[in-house]
Amino acid sequence: MSHHDTAKFISFASPKGGVGKSTSCLAIAGALLSAGEKVHIIDFDQTETIWRWYSTSPTAQAIPNLTVEKGPIDNLGNFIQELYATATDYVLLDLAGALTDLTLMIAAFATLTITPAKVSEPDIIEANKMAQKLHAVAARLGKPINHLILLNEVPGIISKDEVDLIKQIDDSNLRRFQTLIYRRSAYSKSFSRGTLPHMAEAPDRKALKEIDALMNEVRIILEPEQQKAAA
Ligand SMILES: Nc1ncnc2c1ncn2[C@@H]1O[C@H](COP(=O)(O)OP(=O)(O)O)[C@@H](O)[C@H]1O
Ligand SMILES: [Mg+2]
Repeated sequence: MSHHDTAKFISFASPKGGVGKSTSCLAIAGALLSAGEKVHIIDFDQTETIWRWYSTSPTAQAIPNLTVEKGPIDNLGNFIQELYATATDYVLLDLAGALTDLTLMIAAFATLTITPAKVSEPDIIEANKMAQKLHAVAARLGKPINHLILLNEVPGIISKDEVDLIKQIDDSNLRRFQTLIYRRSAYSKSFSRGTLPHMAEAPDRKALKEIDALMNEVRIILEPEQQKAAA
């Protein structure tokens, strides 16, 4: 039996490419799979990073409980209707690095939208744009949204400027995950090796620990309201 009555939808969105959407999508997929969840990934990006990762790697295709497909570019209404009927526990939506109507619509539809960003001013400005647009769409739809920034590719040694930037984020309206995802070869390797950090032959313990910490935060956000009330 599934743990959930309905699937949970997590989208990875940013106006910018190269910030770690596909990387964090795969890291989270691995954590969910190793926790016994069924995961379906939909790659909406024309760069097809995840689709290529999957379709060219027998190792990736052999991962139990994982399915991957390419997202449609039209007839999105129908597609979303069908998604609601999915029997999967988690649907991960990897979006293009652009602020298009499609990106915004899917991000607004998702239960949780994650915007990865480096600890750099340009990335934070872009993440802010995403937040503004998403809140505008949500207000129009009358739908509450969960949108959080995920600080990614954090260097091992954080400079004073970077500390200040993190403080600025914390003083702003932007929500962020407390967990920081550091720059580690374990993340880039999962692409080239067709695996996932949690399923690597020699897993990077530090990477697994930070992904699990991130997953704890994700689970708390996704917990249904009634469970929160009962807890
Ligand atoms: N935490 C990280 N540590 C090391 N490399 C990373 C990390 N996050 C992303 N990368 C690398 O940065 C590049 C861009 O990441 P990607 O997830 O493809 O970005 P996006 O999907 O936002 O375009 C990739 O080569 C990826 O391996
Ligand atoms: Mg990508």
